[in-house]
Amino acid sequence: MNTLSLNGVNKHYGPKHALIDFDYTFRDGIYGLLGPNGAGKSTLMNIITQNIPFDKDGEIRWNGKSVSVLGSAYREIIGFMPQQQELYPSFTAKRFLGYIAALKGIPGKKARDEIERVLRLVELYDQADQKLGGFSGGMKQRVLIAQTLLGDPKLLILDEPTAGLDPKQRVITRNMISGLSKDKIVIISTHIVSDIETIADRILLIRQGEIIDEGTVSELCSKVENGRKNLENLYMQYYGDE
Ligand SMILES: Nc1ncnc2c1ncn2[C@@H]1O[C@H](COP(=O)(O)OP(=O)(O)OP(=O)(O)O)[C@@H](O)[C@H]1O
Ligand SMILES: [Mg+2]
Repeated sequence: MNTLSLNGVNKHYGPKHALIDFDYTFRDGIYGLLGPNGAGKSTLMNIITQNIPFDKDGEIRWNGKSVSVLGSAYREIIGFMPQQQELYPSFTAKRFLGYIAALKGIPGKKARDEIERVLRLVELYDQADQKLGGFSGGMKQRVLIAQTLLGDPKLLILDEPTAGLDPKQRVITRNMISGLSKDKIVIISTHIVSDIETIADRILLIRQGEIIDEGTVSELCSKVENGRKNLENLYMQYYGDE
């Protein structure tokens, strides 16, 4: 069982306090982050993946060890899909994934197998030799998802992975994520409640840099006061007046 613990993690962007005394322990399983624009979801993900620093007092531990001490040993177990990311238009899907595999230190033969595996997972195997510049927005999105899966990371952070996907690809992506091996921590942010409602083991509701509620889908849905007890209505209960 892996654990990722955040203790007293704060983030200021100048005067803006974007993450406030964040305390949470993630365990193997799928976590959904919900919250309105500006809640701090991407900030949290960028901090967990060490893409941005946090204020000096807090601590993040992977399996009990400080990630600042683990260094590259920690970064190697991460697969990250940032919210905004550029692709090299002249690269083919296969070449792009080969480039990422090399950055991750996956050796040649293993990399070829991994690239085939992840291209099949996102249903782009037949387009492997086409240039990314000619891909649709949703196809590019799937290449970016595929990239995170190379090397079977133990910590998978997906910032709005389904943004711009058509309904079929959204379902495929959802099923693919829920079918990943269970010995990993998967954290997904989304604005589409149905993307995570059926696959997340736990949901975190975030507002202005803080967790305002957290639990399994059924625990959270039982708190709905008006209307059907579903996650969308709970979302409206918390954020509807904003
Ligand atoms: N580089 C930055 N400089 C200054 N402020 C920032 C920066 N990045 C984020 N913020 C601010 O921090 C807060 C949290 O932003 P963040 O991007 O984490 O939210 P989010 O929950 O991911 O939102 P969205 O749903 O729109 O992606 C917002 O108030 C945002 O304006
Ligand atoms: Mg964001």
